[in-house]
Amino acid sequence: MSSAKWTNGDVLVLGAEGMLGRQLVDRFRGRLGRGSRERVLAWDIAELDIRDRQAVLVATGKLKPSVVVNAAAFTDVDGCESDIETAMAVNGRAPGHLAAACAENGAKLVHFGTDFIFDGEAERPYRPGDVANPLSVYGRSKWEGEQAVRSTDCSHLIVRTSWLFGPGGRNFVEAILARAEAGQPLKVVTDQIGSPTLAADLADAVVVLLDAEAQGTVHFANSGECSWFEFAREIVRQAGLATTVQSIMTDQLCRAAKRPRYSALDTETYIQLAHRRPRPWHDALNAYLEARGAERRTTSDPPAKAPASDRRSRV
Ligand SMILES: NC(=O)c1ccc[n+]([C@@H]2O[C@H](COP(=O)([O-])OP(=O)(O)OC[C@H]3O[C@@H](n4cnc5c(N)ncnc54)[C@H](OP(=O)(O)O)[C@@H]3O)[C@@H](O)[C@H]2O)c1
Repeated sequence: MSSAKWTNGDVLVLGAEGMLGRQLVDRFRGRLGRGSRERVLAWDIAELDIRDRQAVLVATGKLKPSVVVNAAAFTDVDGCESDIETAMAVNGRAPGHLAAACAENGAKLVHFGTDFIFDGEAERPYRPGDVANPLSVYGRSKWEGEQAVRSTDCSHLIVRTSWLFGPGGRNFVEAILARAEAGQPLKVVTDQIGSPTLAADLADAVVVLLDAEAQGTVHFANSGECSWFEFAREIVRQAGLATTVQSIMTDQLCRAAKRPRYSALDTETYIQLAHRRPRPWHDALNAYLEARGAERRTTSDPPAKAPASDRRSRV
């Protein structure tokens, strides 16, 4: 189906049940095609705990995949503050185990980074080479994970992204809709700016980057910037709900982890490699809400009646 080198072997997706993992599995299966000899293995913590260095080495040695895609992470940003050991083990050290196992078995590693490695003091979108200065345990652990990957000689691609939304996982869009639909008031912070990113668009971008044989660190986010308040207001508007969204400041919330006040990502490297621009976040949100609406209509429709000829034949 494809002449790209990476499609000549199996793809192992880790963290496959997470928000991004599901989209990746879907895209890779679509890309390799039905009936392909190459498999897309969708593993989560039940199949492989990425903290287990030996298990990672054995699994990679047995499967010999062409690509390992690590979407596994401890993503509870506030939870990381009180469980530093898990954050460092999953986000900080495990990517190094994966990279070492990939290096030994000739696989390419795709790993994901976060905008939360930056301190938010920039006046323009962050570029891949900008200095990291994480404000939280989550950000620090993710930065250590990136460095652990870079410290091996494994062929790798680190895709940093921001403000992911999509089906499954912790989803800001669903959280806002649930509150708005329940008629609950919405108070959302206006002093944190970033770029919302549809998980499905990121999964598409990963396939494009693999086709382009991209290496190193690349930023991908939907285009445009907004505050969480503006994002929430747009979700409510596009969903046709009447709820008022009130803006508040970060220091009115008592959250364990400190977040960058500005963390938009510069996606120029992606644009150069992919020869395409990420679509605006408004459009990505619209696509997400349309797909969500269509799925809801399908699941709430009564089962379709069988054609008359079939009905007769069953009597
Ligand atoms: N979400 C965002 O806004 C965001 C922003 C920037 C970057 N990122 C990065 O994007 C990547 C994907 O994030 P996501 O939002 O899709 O995460 P997610 O929905 O939390 O999914 C992570 C998956 O990894 C699994 N996992 C946790 N610990 C594991 C372990 N030790 N071994 C194997 N699997 C394990 C989780 O299982 P459990 O659910 O059972 O724990 C979950 O299925 C991560 O690298 C994240 O840091 C995310």
